[in-house]
Amino acid sequence: MPHAATLTDPDALYAHLKERLDDALDADLRRKAKLAAEINQLKQERNAVILGHNYMEPALFHTIPDFTGDSLGLSRRAAEAEQDVIVFCGVRFMAETAKILNPEKTVLLPAERAGCSLAESITAEDVRRLKQQFPGVPVVTYVNTYADVKAESDVCCTSSNAAAVVESLDSDTVIFLPDEYLAKNVAQETGKHIVFPSAGGDGALAGTESNVELIGWAGRCEVHDKFRVEDIERVREEHPDAVILAHPECSPEVVEASDYAGSTSAMIEYVEQTDAPRYLLLTECSMGENIMAENPEKKMLRMCWQRCPHMNEITLEDTRTGLREMRQQIEVPEEIRVRALRAVERMLAIG
Ligand code: 13P
Ligand code: SF4
Repeated sequence: MPHAATLTDPDALYAHLKERLDDALDADLRRKAKLAAEINQLKQERNAVILGHNYMEPALFHTIPDFTGDSLGLSRRAAEAEQDVIVFCGVRFMAETAKILNPEKTVLLPAERAGCSLAESITAEDVRRLKQQFPGVPVVTYVNTYADVKAESDVCCTSSNAAAVVESLDSDTVIFLPDEYLAKNVAQETGKHIVFPSAGGDGALAGTESNVELIGWAGRCEVHDKFRVEDIERVREEHPDAVILAHPECSPEVVEASDYAGSTSAMIEYVEQTDAPRYLLLTECSMGENIMAENPEKKMLRMCWQRCPHMNEITLEDTRTGLREMRQQIEVPEEIRVRALRAVERMLAIG
């Protein structure tokens, strides 16, 4: 234990920790560097490309991906891939999207349990029921859905083009699934009126509410759902000069109280292109670490307890094993793939 007099002194505690943990941390970095070198060697042998989402843990993020980015950017990279194998260091719906775009390639997801609470929140049957309830109304699904849900949709979107996709449709009413908060944020941005029909409804809603323009669904991201306006107020009180950025999967109240909202790549770009004294990111916590590593001069405030458990499943160890043994290959039944492809390609065509 440190001396009692230093227990409340952060600098003394830092020195205490550094003295005791430096070797252990360094050993961990060496272990990760060795793994990353093995993966990069395997990548060449397998003629693979590695796509890494912005939420990957720092040691992985900074060593093995050929491309990093948000869902839209990585979908575009997947569509352009020339290698035989695509390794998706992200979650299942992202790897599925890569497979939808590249049926002839082998797509690997390093961890089986890398799911997503939004993708789990809706089934293809739910979408079919909504289409019966609201016949003829176009369906936009967030890319954070599984392939069979995409197959029931007219067009997909990501957090970076959701409003543009909705506005591109020549329809007074749009079904927007499954993220409740993203739908509300899009409604806010586009000035549309949104409603949430109860499951198993009979369509009466569309008839009774004549100004309904967006029909939503009650899915939520388990990570972004945890941020609160009080978190923002507390930080503003302690650091009035902090710029606060939120992902649009946060509640509309949180987005409203923030200074900027955008996709993960849009947030990174915002931080890189502005010169604020400090930033707070209301999103998965690895991203702040990754930005700091690239931009050591930027001061990031930490609220670092919101790690996505699904993204966290992707490790260097599992990526090496996946690539070495060609494990966790993603398959999408052809009948679903061709229908999902239409929705994904329409999304890629929109900004
Ligand atoms: P982006 O498309 O902004 O990278 O978001 C993906 C995601 O899962 C956010 O939680
Ligand atoms: Fe899904 Fe949320 Fe994790 Fe993104 S952060 S992958 S939306 S659970």
